[in-house]
Amino acid sequence: MNISVAIDGPAAAGKSTIANIIAHKFNLMYINTGSMYRAAALLCMRERVCYKDVDKVCEIVKSLKMHFEKDRLIVNGEDLTEGIKHPDVSNNVSNYAAIFKLRKLLVKLQQDMAGNFNVIMDGRDIGTVVLKNAPLKFFLTASASERAKRRYLELKKKGIDVEYNEILDEIIKRDYIDSHRESSPFIKAEDAIEINSSGLSIYQVVEIISGYIRNYIKEHN
Ligand code: DC
Repeated sequence: MNISVAIDGPAAAGKSTIANIIAHKFNLMYINTGSMYRAAALLCMRERVCYKDVDKVCEIVKSLKMHFEKDRLIVNGEDLTEGIKHPDVSNNVSNYAAIFKLRKLLVKLQQDMAGNFNVIMDGRDIGTVVLKNAPLKFFLTASASERAKRRYLELKKKGIDVEYNEILDEIIKRDYIDSHRESSPFIKAEDAIEINSSGLSIYQVVEIISGYIRNYIKEHN
């Protein structure tokens, strides 16, 4: 039986933590598409290529060999898993992710990665574009202040010096750019199940999603 699970949601909604746990629970391949956009942005920023220089951005992205090794993102042989979470990347990634040609390249890569595997993929356009035919689609939401609080605590724990208000501003700005861009704006797929995670723990959300997956497996076995 083939299963593909799509999880879309705004910045810092807990998608990757939740998708990771579910991947282990149901033996699914986890593809974190946000990290792919982050890697593209980071490598362009390293080369000092602005998001407005679309041809150069695409040239760089075409030269990237990206793959996941368990939970780690390897790009041209370098483990970028931690580097892509830096606030400088978070502050700029939405501008790169709004480039139509860049999205086309990464969507193709994501669809190739998914291939014939059982996958769980998270991002902003998974249910609407990348895995349009996925039988299980979830749309995770939470208030901007709750998401900022979670991201703030996560960064602090890692020893990264940040201000709560800066994180909140960045999240609000990123939500705006992601949902107002011309190319595949961040919207809920009509057939996605919406889960508001405000006030819920990660494990409560995992349980809700797991319930739907278990039912699907039962019905299709
Ligand atoms: O989920 P995240 O915060 O790591 O995503 C980083 C950025 O990439 C975010 O600004 C939205 C964008 N993104 C996207 O446009 N499409 C996706 N499928 C995943 C992420």
